[in-house]
Amino acid sequence: MSTDGLSTAQQKMADAGVPQTAIDVFTHYYGQLEEGVTGSIPEDTIEPYLDPPKLDDVRIDPAHAKQVFDKLAIINLNGGLGTSMGLDKAKSLLPVRDGKSFLDIIVEQVLAARRGTGSRLPLIFMNSFRTREDTLEVLAKYPDLPVGDLPLDFLQNKEPKLRTDDLTPVQWEADPSLEWCPPGHGDIYTALQTSGVLQQLLDAGFRYASVSNSDNLGTVPNPVIASWFASTGAPYAAELCRRTAADRKGGHLAVRKSDGRLILRDTAQTPQEEMDYFTDEHRHPYFHTNNLWFDLEQLDAVLKERDGVMGLPLIRNEKTVDPSDKTSPKVYQIESAMGAAIEVFEGATAIVVGRDRFLPVKATSDLLLIRSDLYALDQRQALVQQVPSVPAVTLASEPYKLIGDFEARFPHGIPSLKEATSLDVQGDWTFGQDVTVIGDAVLGTEGGQVPDGARVGTA
Ligand code: UTP
Repeated sequence: MSTDGLSTAQQKMADAGVPQTAIDVFTHYYGQLEEGVTGSIPEDTIEPYLDPPKLDDVRIDPAHAKQVFDKLAIINLNGGLGTSMGLDKAKSLLPVRDGKSFLDIIVEQVLAARRGTGSRLPLIFMNSFRTREDTLEVLAKYPDLPVGDLPLDFLQNKEPKLRTDDLTPVQWEADPSLEWCPPGHGDIYTALQTSGVLQQLLDAGFRYASVSNSDNLGTVPNPVIASWFASTGAPYAAELCRRTAADRKGGHLAVRKSDGRLILRDTAQTPQEEMDYFTDEHRHPYFHTNNLWFDLEQLDAVLKERDGVMGLPLIRNEKTVDPSDKTSPKVYQIESAMGAAIEVFEGATAIVVGRDRFLPVKATSDLLLIRSDLYALDQRQALVQQVPSVPAVTLASEPYKLIGDFEARFPHGIPSLKEATSLDVQGDWTFGQDVTVIGDAVLGTEGGQVPDGARVGTA
């Protein structure tokens, strides 16, 4: 039954022009799916990673930083769809502030860094078949963006969604494009190779890459980290942040007892009964930001050695074929995480960076924060926090979870949060114009209208 499933899936990929290496990677994971591999990483197989290098301790020689910057490419992950916020397009198209989207701000950050350093700094997006067209349309507004012959993006591979009942590729005549999914950001390694972009970068004299998510506006090109990374000689480095009690999500690095290698452990790989260890900010004090640094020459060597199959741990994502129709057939999407590659690179390392390099937008409450007066864009187009600490914001999942519903509750823009300590919106509230939140504010389950000019909360 499942052999049929595999060969049908392989054929479907080949017919759609998916490169053989990507089919090999899919085949590797399909085998694991059939075997029921869970990827679980129990606590007693790892040691906490307690003493990574810290950016605060790094001192660099500016001349060295400039040399490294001249060989640095910026790669931005833009293939995901923001399904948790109800999007079926790239999250990076959403407006953030001053009429600019994530994409606009990312482009302007790189253009500002080029002006500031005189380095070439190519910006290359990894798109998926669902995000490419819209993204390239936005990028066309920036004629100065392309560097030499390098493309502005490369395309992730695609793979069939598999029915959970028999692991065959799902069929969905109502919208056949929904039969496919991008294979998670772990696909970056395969896609860099199969697209030829890795080779193009090497041929154009680039040696290093700084990689981050398009939903994180904190990753302004950084010469200090670049110089530190190059001087370590490491093939790969991950940026970490100090975990606080509020940071209950987000993977962490650990040392695998069996071979002493650094590994990434995500929520999905932690046994349910061990989640207390996972979220304990004293036991695992740093979380993984998904900001990575690669030495492209060493990456190329590793990919060649492994015939393009990195063999990263499988992530089995269960969804419905049409994410907006919960009655449509259940499917598995086979995915892998980019940061899991830390275990593949001998000598991989990590560095603890400031929280300013981690401003992810995973939920509408994150979007509310970065759209508000808590942040302002500086001349580097970096989002700079305007207050000593950011208030804790909770929005009732009904009706704020999905972007359209969220936007409808803030027709006049985001309230002022500068004087707020916390905001807890428990019911369906629509905000008027010029609302100010002060101290701790709770808007109850009864819902209603917050009037224009209102000041809510306790000073
Ligand atoms: P996430 O998986 O955290 O977010 O990806 P998402 O895919 O945007 O949102 P959900 O989970 O569907 O709600 C982190 C980053 O990796 C990119 C995303 O675009 C985002 O910038 N990504 C994710 C890819 O480039 N390709 C993928 O296959 C998956």
